[in-house]
Order: sequence, then structure tokens, then C-alpha cells
Amino acid sequence: MLRNLFYAFPPSMRYWVRRIYYLPTDIYEGATGKRHPLQPPKGIIYTGSGDYLKESYKRLEQLKKHCELKSSSHILDIGSGIGRIAVPLTEYLDHSGKYEGFDVVKLGVDWCKKNISSQFPQFNFRYIPLMNDLYRSDGADPATFRFPYDDNSFDSCVVNSVFTHMVPEEVSHYMSELSRVLKKGGKGIVTFFIYDDNYNPDTIKSYDFQFRYDYEHYRLMDKKVKSANVAYKENYLKNELLQKNGLKEIKRINGFWPTGKRRHEIDDFQDVVFIEKT
Ligand SMILES: C[S@@+](CC[C@H](N)C(=O)[O-])C[C@H]1O[C@@H](n2cnc3c(N)ncnc32)[C@H](O)[C@@H]1O
Repeated sequence: MLRNLFYAFPPSMRYWVRRIYYLPTDIYEGATGKRHPLQPPKGIIYTGSGDYLKESYKRLEQLKKHCELKSSSHILDIGSGIGRIAVPLTEYLDHSGKYEGFDVVKLGVDWCKKNISSQFPQFNFRYIPLMNDLYRSDGADPATFRFPYDDNSFDSCVVNSVFTHMVPEEVSHYMSELSRVLKKGGKGIVTFFIYDDNYNPDTIKSYDFQFRYDYEHYRLMDKKVKSANVAYKENYLKNELLQKNGLKEIKRINGFWPTGKRRHEIDDFQDVVFIEKT
């Protein structure tokens, strides 16, 4: 219900709704010094309500454990948001390492430039005004956007909670671009909502995870705001998104979204897919 109400506001208004809602917390945390020096105030974290720092450090550990991330790695963060993936990497990448991130929301990119790139020059953020009906009211078509990086230039990548907000023609194009810019053997993390033929939204208790609108190989949660949440069918992910683009899945951690029940505080609700360029 709350989610529906939130989506009823245009993207520019959603910023103010969040800002006002979290204002007391932000004032308190600012005044008591309770916030990590590189953590944005809650009211401007437009990228989700989970625990910002816990999620960031979890992804760093997964990149090291499953994707051979090294302190000298060159890493691409697609949909870099307001720095959640970048922040822990500032403690890990050394001067031979490099981080590139891009996003369609200027507020996030500006915050990252001001707070991260100013202290860590090997971190570079770009604002690219592409359309996404959850985050913006205008912009160029993501399905034809060429990533501004050379072929085979990254060892690693993260696409965290981004393809869950993009429609198939966009995700398909992004996967081919991702494959182009990753080095052979390059690895990374991509999160999705993945369902199979047995999926039935009526059996899912939590309204937050019911994808009711079925379009054969993908499902939407909200017809009016298409990018609000998008789920992809298992076969489509495997054949069209991965295999066709020279990518393979090397590991998966299933999210708890189909049950709606979190087992541990640190569990992901989205499915986390670890990929490798073949
Ligand atoms: C849920 S947020 C996740 C942000 C970040 N990856 C994180 O984990 O905190 C989704 C992000 O995807 C970005 N986004 C949406 N469409 C995009 C596109 N076509 N290209 C790049 N980023 C996009 C949004 O602006 C937003 O920052």
C-alpha cells in the first residue's frame, strides 16, 4: 500500500517525500555523529530502504570471495546510485585499482563526486540522462546507449538492484555492452528477480513481491510504472541475457523474495547471480 502511494508521486516529488520522512532521523544522526563519514543521510538515499552499509560491505566480501576481486582490479558499477557499492571499495582498491560508475540520477552522481571522487581520484562517476520511469520523467533510450568505455577494459562488475528496475530490451542491450567492456574471464555480480514456470503470485504472501503482470518472459509488479520492479524468467536469463552475450552463471544465491520471509538479517531479497565472461 505504502509503495503504491509512493509511486503515485512523480519522480521529482518522491525525493521530497523521502527527505521529509527521514528528516528527524537525519538530524539526530547528524547531530550525534552516528553516521559513517561516507554514508549519505537517509533522506537522500533514493536507492532503497535496506541497511546501506551492511549491504555495501556484503557485496565487497562477495566480490572478493566469488569474483576474484583484487585491490588492483578495474571495476564497473552500472547504476552506481548514491555510492553503496563504491563506499567499501574506497577501503579496498589501491592506487592501481580503478572504479567507474554511471547512473541516470544526477543527485546520486553529484553526491558521489563530491564525497568520494574528491578523496579517491581513482573513483569516477558519470551522470548519463537516460529514461527510467521509476527515477526520471525524461531521458534518452537506454536500449541504444553505448557504454563510454573501451572493449575488454574491466576485470569485474556490479549491477546491484538495477536490472530489477529495467525492461527486457534495455537489460538485453546492457548485457551485451557489459560483455563488450568486460575482459575475458572477468567476473561480477548481477541481481535479478528470477522466476520459473511454477511461479504464482497468489502463493506469495508479501504484496511487495507479487509480480502480477505476465509478459511471457518477464513480469511487472506495476503496469503504470513499468520499471518499478521487473522479474525475469529463468530460461530468458540463461539463454537470451547470459549465453547469447558470451556470459555464464558461476554461482547463485537465491533471494528470499519468493517466500517473503527473511531468514537472516543479512539475506538478500533479490537473487544474486555471479557471472563470468567466457
Ligand atoms: C535500487 S537503485 C540501486 C543503486 C545501486 N546499484 C545500489 O546498489 O545502491 C537502482 C539504480 O539504478 C539506476 N538506473 C536506472 N536505470 C538505469 C539505467 N538505464 N542505467 C544506469 N542506471 C540506471 C537508478 O538511477 C538507481 O540509482
